[in-house]
Amino acid sequence: MTRYRKQDPEITRRKFINVAMGTTATVGVVSLVSALGTANPVFRLTRDKMPPVKGDILVHAVESKEGQPIRMADLSEKLVRAWPMGKDEDGNSIIRKGDPNNILAVYRFPKGQIQAPTNLEATVEGEIVVYSDVCTHAGCSVADDDQRAGAMKCPCHSGQYDPKQGCKVIGGPPPRPLAQLPVRLDGENLVVGDFFLQNPYPFNEAEWEARKKEVEEQLG
Ligand code: FES
Repeated sequence: MTRYRKQDPEITRRKFINVAMGTTATVGVVSLVSALGTANPVFRLTRDKMPPVKGDILVHAVESKEGQPIRMADLSEKLVRAWPMGKDEDGNSIIRKGDPNNILAVYRFPKGQIQAPTNLEATVEGEIVVYSDVCTHAGCSVADDDQRAGAMKCPCHSGQYDPKQGCKVIGGPPPRPLAQLPVRLDGENLVVGDFFLQNPYPFNEAEWEARKKEVEEQLG
């Protein structure tokens, strides 16, 4: 005959606490894993952060005119800052200013002044040329050089570039030219012809190739 043995109340209490703690921990881990599993990937490349892509329209970046398409008449030997404007997943226009490194510098020089190593085929009729406006030294936005007509100067450490010659470095610490962006005219709009021809800040060559691939895959 089996005799019922009364359990030690202390053992029962400890057992209960252990089971309860184990259950809570398990539920906690499961919740965390589910939350992580369903969360959006942190580094997903959204359309507003994509670098300029073929077909984007260049629009003014200055606050008073932001979003207005840039026209030939707006351009001169003075720097005009621009954003690329593309489409979101629903086909609506989106300015790609989610990444400040997408800011662009647009110039129009009299015919014959733009020379090698500028890629002339990536300009509009040898007159309009577009570069990344982000310094290759440490990422500051580059401006016109007040002391030297036709040149660009970085306000951070005085890096200087020549926009008539492929934005080659003509002074200061930048390690390489500003990247040139191919453009063309489509009606009245200034439109991106392709990706940057060189790796723009902050990418090295391999990273830039990977980013282009990622964008192409995402846009199909
Ligand atoms: S960030 Fe432009 S020269 Fe240093």
